[in-house]
Amino acid sequence: MAEPFLVESPNVTYSKDFIEAKYTYSTVHVCKENGVTKVRPCSTRFTFRTGRQVPRLGVMLVGWGGNNGTTVTAAVLANKLGLSWMTKTGRKKANYYGSLLQASTVCLGTGPSGDVYVPFRDLLPMVHPNDIVFDGWDISSLNLAEAMKRAEVLEWPLQEQLWPHMEKMKPRPSIYIPEFIAANQEERADNVLRGSMAEQVEQIRRDIRDFRESSGVEKVIVLWTANTERFCDIVPGLNDTADNLLRAIERGLEVSPSTLFAVASILEGCAYINGSPQNTFVPGAVELAAQRRVFIGGDDFKSGQTKLKSVLVDFLVGAGLKTKSIVSYNHLGNNDGKNLSAPQQFRSKEISKSNVVDDTVQANPVLYGPQDKPDHCVVIKYVPYVGDSKRALDEYTSEIMMGGTNTIVIHNTCEDSLLASPIILDLAILTELCQRITFCTEADPEFQGFHSVLSILAFLCKAPLVPEGTPVVNALFRQRSCIENILRYPGGPECRHPVPTVAPKAPQGGPGGSQCPNPGRPGRPVLVGGSQCHQWVPVRAGG
Ligand SMILES: NC(=O)c1ccc[n+]([C@@H]2O[C@H](COP(=O)([O-])OP(=O)(O)OC[C@H]3O[C@@H](n4cnc5c(N)ncnc54)[C@H](O)[C@@H]3O)[C@@H](O)[C@H]2O)c1
Repeated sequence: MAEPFLVESPNVTYSKDFIEAKYTYSTVHVCKENGVTKVRPCSTRFTFRTGRQVPRLGVMLVGWGGNNGTTVTAAVLANKLGLSWMTKTGRKKANYYGSLLQASTVCLGTGPSGDVYVPFRDLLPMVHPNDIVFDGWDISSLNLAEAMKRAEVLEWPLQEQLWPHMEKMKPRPSIYIPEFIAANQEERADNVLRGSMAEQVEQIRRDIRDFRESSGVEKVIVLWTANTERFCDIVPGLNDTADNLLRAIERGLEVSPSTLFAVASILEGCAYINGSPQNTFVPGAVELAAQRRVFIGGDDFKSGQTKLKSVLVDFLVGAGLKTKSIVSYNHLGNNDGKNLSAPQQFRSKEISKSNVVDDTVQANPVLYGPQDKPDHCVVIKYVPYVGDSKRALDEYTSEIMMGGTNTIVIHNTCEDSLLASPIILDLAILTELCQRITFCTEADPEFQGFHSVLSILAFLCKAPLVPEGTPVVNALFRQRSCIENILRYPGGPECRHPVPTVAPKAPQGGPGGSQCPNPGRPGRPVLVGGSQCHQWVPVRAGG
């Protein structure tokens, strides 16, 4: 396929199948020796290889009939069909605003009339959202047209145009274990699988194969956008290893539906992304993904309040102001809000929202002692009248010079699903792209892929999943730089904003799998597509 630009450099070569780019990654290693802090610049010479053939991508949504599921499907159809519709403020046209890849730009370099910007999507060959084929599951049997109407997100004149297309789409029956979501969801559960837990997982696997065959897509990514579940306990012998988790499924022990979907898609070699806050990725699921070399990513779409928080606190603390208290109130009236009105499901969301400033605070020992962190309170209330139009009220209080206080109050009103939908597209498209990128170094010339825990997705997730032992980075623009850098290296243009690296615990290598190319083996350094820029770290023997 034709690239939107060509890099003319001895470091970049284009063949029919690949773009290959050589890149020297410079970083700084800091250590303390005999009480003296020593700073040592070091560099690694990488070769990145990116497959140029963009596959036909299928995305299967768990919770397809929900607000996010119907909105993202409708938005893609509306874009594909070039639809427009009248509102009281004039004609609106379908677009992909809110998508990092489709609607934001990066600076390619400097031209005769100044800096030249290109859309993120032009940095490397990637799937266009208009070409994604959707399918999925829901415990509610409504077809997608009826479900779109129930969601009350899109303007009616648009819904009318989409109706004949959406009406033909029907969610597949799903796994429903009532104790994991709020009791108030029971009334919509009329489309559920029967049989043992193992049989239901088998059915999900068959669904994935059936979709692949009947739609003609070459790759499938599965993404959870169903209701928030309660957290699972991590129990030795139950879900702490891949073998134990598979045994627990055989025996029908406590495994959440989201984890069952994760297992089914990993076993089918399909990347799995978790858009909700619950701990789907119990250690056994993470180990299974590493063994099968399948990408996993999550948790919880970062759409509104948390995104702003990760920017604002980064700004305040980065400016030397000591933020002491963050209080966030939310009220919303959609089905997500209804589910979150139950204490256990709210607790999952509270956990997911609460750690978002930790790294920013820890990065400033001038302001914060080791045990010191801001008070942080999150409240969510269900108010049916406001529907999908979520209200978020935040108060940030910081200590300023000489005992002064600075209080910032923010009120944000926004359609929740219209923020989440472009994030769903970015998650799927980035994950697919990562499946086509491999790299090697001069010291280790065998090509390998990213770590199976795809932490490059951190920009899009509230509680980023990272490989064990890797610090989580929440600061939004560091996360954005990570994506930008990872997309720049393989395409050749220089990385403009290098970010420091850290050493996480290594992943396991293992047999089988097709989706995540050769993600490292014991005894070998591995590049973590990390929450920072890149993380080039030694793999410990045995994983
Ligand atoms: N919209 C946002 O901005 C946003 C941001 C972050 C996270 N999220 C999370 O995304 C998820 C979806 O949000 P939403 O607004 O679309 O909610 P929603 O309630 O409208 O949709 C969820 C859908 O999942 C279905 N469902 C529940 N359990 C299921 C199961 N086991 N299998 C298949 N389907 C199942 C429900 O029937 C429903 O149709 C929620 O967990 C929410 O917390 C949303």
